[in-house]
Amino acid sequence: MTSDTSESKLASSPLTVFPATVHDAEGIHRLVNHWAAQGQMLPRTLAETYENLRDFFVIRDGDNVIACGALHIMWADMAELKSLAVDPDLQSAGHGSALVAACVEEGRRLGMQQLFALSYRPGFFERLGWKQADVMSLPRKVWNECYRCPKFPGCDEIALIYDLN
Ligand SMILES: CC(C)(COP(=O)(O)OP(=O)(O)OC[C@H]1O[C@@H](n2cnc3c(N)ncnc32)[C@H](O)[C@@H]1OP(=O)(O)O)[C@@H](O)C(=O)NCCC(=O)NCCS
Repeated sequence: MTSDTSESKLASSPLTVFPATVHDAEGIHRLVNHWAAQGQMLPRTLAETYENLRDFFVIRDGDNVIACGALHIMWADMAELKSLAVDPDLQSAGHGSALVAACVEEGRRLGMQQLFALSYRPGFFERLGWKQADVMSLPRKVWNECYRCPKFPGCDEIALIYDLN
């Protein structure tokens, strides 16, 4: 993979977080679908990964994507943190927290008021300052992908919000 000189370090964590490039798409796709197969997140096609590539941040080991996460703008005041995935062999080493920090920083840069996430790991997010919320309090627009979920309409994910104000 060639290095992209426009990449910038976005997280204050010692782990370096980069905006994704096209070279990362297959690695992101592999990681997300690994966890999707375990029922932890929605699967993504490679085409969707490319279409949403500018939402993604990655952490790499050499050329390999070892962790990824995305911030997807929903509306002027709301963005979703999604597709947060860390290599199964590299859990609990700070990668997930570094990616959440990068997404929060990006939300601030964009002028967002609030971020939300849907997760089975509420404790992980709460330790980073996120708060649990009633999923029904989120705007209906946040459900636009749910029809693709095998669990729809019996969603058992926990909604979490992060206030940027
Ligand atoms: C959820 C997920 C992204 C967290 O990523 P991670 O890299 O393991 O997260 P971190 O290492 O930053 O934090 C995880 C834990 O490790 C601890 N930790 C972080 N750095 C550490 C270190 N250097 N040494 C020891 N422990 C550490 C944190 O305190 C945290 O504790 P907690 O689990 O009690 O909250 C990861 O488990 C994952 O890929 N899960 C599957 C997909 C998923 O559920 N995604 C979320 C959907 S939104």
